[in-house]
Amino acid sequence: MTLPRSLRWTGDHLDLLDQRCLPHTVVYRQLTHWREVSDAIRSMAVRGAPAIGVAAAWGVVLAAKAGDDLDQAIEGLRASRPTAVNLSWALNRMQSSAKSNGWVDVHQLERLASAIEAEDRALTQALVNHGIGVLPEDCRVLHHCHTGAVATAGVGTALGVIVAGHQRGIVKHAWLDETRPRLQGAALSAWELGCCGVPSTVIVDGASGLLMRRGQVDVVLVGCDRVAGNGDVANKIGTYNLALAARAHGVPLYVCAPSSSIDITTVDGDAITIEERPEDEITHFRGEPVCASGVRAWNPAFDITPAHLITGLITEFGVIRSPSRESIASLPLAN
Ligand code: MRU
Repeated sequence: MTLPRSLRWTGDHLDLLDQRCLPHTVVYRQLTHWREVSDAIRSMAVRGAPAIGVAAAWGVVLAAKAGDDLDQAIEGLRASRPTAVNLSWALNRMQSSAKSNGWVDVHQLERLASAIEAEDRALTQALVNHGIGVLPEDCRVLHHCHTGAVATAGVGTALGVIVAGHQRGIVKHAWLDETRPRLQGAALSAWELGCCGVPSTVIVDGASGLLMRRGQVDVVLVGCDRVAGNGDVANKIGTYNLALAARAHGVPLYVCAPSSSIDITTVDGDAITIEERPEDEITHFRGEPVCASGVRAWNPAFDITPAHLITGLITEFGVIRSPSRESIASLPLAN
């Protein structure tokens, strides 16, 4: 089955795949105002750092078409979610372009949003091509969260490597963390791998240690929401625990990081803002309480994996082994 595209610009509005309806229904929302794009990002209708960045770029085009205050729209979109740097990466480019003329050129902004989307397709494909090279023959890969095609405008990052690796006969099986509490692994990654014919098994996040102890995992692949200047990585909560378990068992862990997720202006992982989400994502399931009334929960959506636990960063430029401030500074990043 062909995977649906995460988003589609019609020339007039943005058709956005509502990822909250997956895996059961493929629903596109017609977004005609930048505030709807901001709401879609905040409410997680669109998720996955690269897809969020591209959607935001189209949000700026909608604001320009409507004659809205562009700075207000850009700051409104930027505030939608704090951790994934792809959002600012795309918005800063749109903002520089908007300011370059002294007047708002809607067609120029439309061309730039289209270029940002095309770039995401190109760089995720290049990243996947490099990522295949780190996979051992006949491997069993463990994956966390949501990094497939619908998390990007292209072929995905870590899940894209798994799909391509399976097509070339290198990946034998994928273990998928269900990814508490929003279940991106169970709902999205398992569905994507099923569509692509890759054999996979969903596990609860806490099962990865046992799997590694039993020698059932050859390599761990994850995506990221921001790479700091020293190589520390923000990614979905649970990634840090996974990295610790991987190190303890001698299993390599690679982070797939397109340049749009690399932020050299953030000095290290501790400087990254971690989004904290509502308690009821933990205390309730589908609206029904699972905890006694009054039980409190803490719900950070991301964590920080220190660079020393990362075997390599897979980028569109190649694989950076043992990432460090020096190796990241040497990347040919555009901005
Ligand atoms: O909170 P979400 O669902 O937006 O989190 C998504 C992730 O953390 C992904 O792993 C990350 O954005 C990588 S995207 C290729």
